[in-house]
Amino acid sequence: MNKTTSSSDRHTPSGVPFSQVRDLLLPSFRKHRLRLLAGIASLFLVDLLQLIVPRIIKHGVDGLEALTITTAGLFRLGLMVLGIASVVVVLRFAWRYLIIGFSRLLEQAIRNRIFSHILKMDAAFFERRTTGDLMAHSSNDLAAVQMACGMGLVAAADSLVMCVAAIGFMIAIHPLLTLYALLPMPFLAVSTRILSGKLHRRFAKVQEQFSDITEFSRSNLISIGLIKAYTMENFQTARFDRLGRKYLKSNLRVAAIQGLISPIATLVGSMGMLMVLYFGGSLVIDGTITLGDFVAFISYLYMLIWPMMAIGWVANLVQRGLTSLGRIHNLVNSRAILPDPVLAEEPAKLNQPGFRLNNLTFTYPTSRSPALRDITLTLGPGIHGVTGRTGSGKSTLCRLLARLYPIEDGMLLFGDHDVNHLPLHFIRSHIGYVSQEPVLFSDTIAANIALGRQDALRGDVIRAAEAAAIHDDILALKNGYDTKIGERGVKLSGGQRQRLALARALLCDRPVLIVDDGLSAVDVATEHEVFAGLKRHFSGKTVLIVSNRIKLLSMTDHIIILANGVVESEGGHDLLLATNSLYRAMYIKQMKQDNEPEDAPS
Ligand SMILES: Nc1ncnc2c1ncn2[C@@H]1O[C@H](COP(=O)(O)OP(=O)(O)OP(=O)(O)O)[C@@H](O)[C@H]1O
Ligand SMILES: [Mg+2]
Repeated sequence: MNKTTSSSDRHTPSGVPFSQVRDLLLPSFRKHRLRLLAGIASLFLVDLLQLIVPRIIKHGVDGLEALTITTAGLFRLGLMVLGIASVVVVLRFAWRYLIIGFSRLLEQAIRNRIFSHILKMDAAFFERRTTGDLMAHSSNDLAAVQMACGMGLVAAADSLVMCVAAIGFMIAIHPLLTLYALLPMPFLAVSTRILSGKLHRRFAKVQEQFSDITEFSRSNLISIGLIKAYTMENFQTARFDRLGRKYLKSNLRVAAIQGLISPIATLVGSMGMLMVLYFGGSLVIDGTITLGDFVAFISYLYMLIWPMMAIGWVANLVQRGLTSLGRIHNLVNSRAILPDPVLAEEPAKLNQPGFRLNNLTFTYPTSRSPALRDITLTLGPGIHGVTGRTGSGKSTLCRLLARLYPIEDGMLLFGDHDVNHLPLHFIRSHIGYVSQEPVLFSDTIAANIALGRQDALRGDVIRAAEAAAIHDDILALKNGYDTKIGERGVKLSGGQRQRLALARALLCDRPVLIVDDGLSAVDVATEHEVFAGLKRHFSGKTVLIVSNRIKLLSMTDHIIILANGVVESEGGHDLLLATNSLYRAMYIKQMKQDNEPEDAPS
């Protein structure tokens, strides 16, 4: 939801006002403020303790120069340095644990927000965004935000304290010498800024190429049968090699930049050192500063190298973090095309589970021409068969009834209510939907069947499986209902997957069942068995079955024939056989096929 933004509002590099992306961060910053404060306090303490060390060394050197210090005194100074180092160990651990931990907590909160938002989106949303795009949001963009709020925050706070304090101590020793010594430092900040920007771009390329390699391996492995059948092994290996070479080249380009950063820092440090040795040395000779001051000064100069590099690095981290945050903001604020009606009233009870469609026309958001045109239908209690050539709009009709797409042109009534005025979850909770390509999770068979009813007992699951004629197949598996189905359910046949999805819908036992071609991969005998089960199970309810099998259609109460997105005919089997040429042609063809095996000589 867009908030009004004033013209003075600053924008992130991705064009989103800063005041809006802040909303993604603030809850976590507020919730974990104590942790964050403790972390930053530890960080400051570490810095301050480190700044004391050169003072101690100064003491030792001055004492040595004036021969006023004893070996016991030097030992005490050494013990102080050791003591400080020990405290630094504890505090360093504390700030890392607290601040980096905070950035991980923040990352988790944003990741959950992205995930829960994506799950609420409608089918149209997923047509506009690719899976790869969505995955990138939850990996690369999140990583950039986490880096900016973790190491970026640490480096910013650290370099601020170190710069201010070290420069302060240096000025206290000699202001003009400080100016000379610092002259080369801006060069370091600018060069790290440029180099880390380059490094990031090159590294992004490495990641991109790595995901190409992963995707290539994945797609080859899952279609290994195809590769062997077409004897593509060598060809694919050569393509893999080309991808690998590109990846290697990009990695070397990253290494080249990484190899530059540290020598440049040393170079700039040495330039500062040249200034200090030359000007500072003459100040010691003059007696303006002591030898101890001189040594301490050099220590402070070296302490400045990391913060100066950090300034350039942090600038990049923050810029990248803000760009990613802007993209995440756009994602979590994208709205479904199919909004839940505001103030929709949930009817206490559904009188008539069924649909009425009045002059309904539907065009997919990504398409120009309508997939369904001017559909007027009544789907009351009973079993309705839907048939038609491929692409005629059968699945589209099922998706609209299952409320997966918005109804904008024409009217769809569910019971007595216009669906546009009903809460989405109300309609969906009354419908069992088996899509054309059944989707199974990598989980046990029982868990897959119980997806819509987590509270279902094993007995309920078995009854649903029996009604879907899949029970015997499940028992034939080694672990029965506890068998895990692999990625994408590979251990099951197409027909078994369909019946499993049907069992899942049956277990939910909702007043409406929509089965989109859910029995196309099962043999005729099983189809009969399932249909008989459905008939028993769904008396008085509304069932819609998409099928091109005349035998199945002939058992339904009412058949709809779709052609090019319009209802060509509807009615009972006998009527359509007499009046519809497509239906008759299908009938004759299928009867012939069914009779062929019996007619064939054995
Ligand atoms: N998600 C989509 N976005 C855009 N167009 C689509 C989409 N899904 C289907 N279509 C188009 O809508 C038309 C109807 O498709 P639909 O899937 O409803 O046909 P179908 O009758 O179920 O076909 P089949 O028998 O092959 O399953 C087709 O022209 C198809 O190309
Ligand atoms: Mg279809």
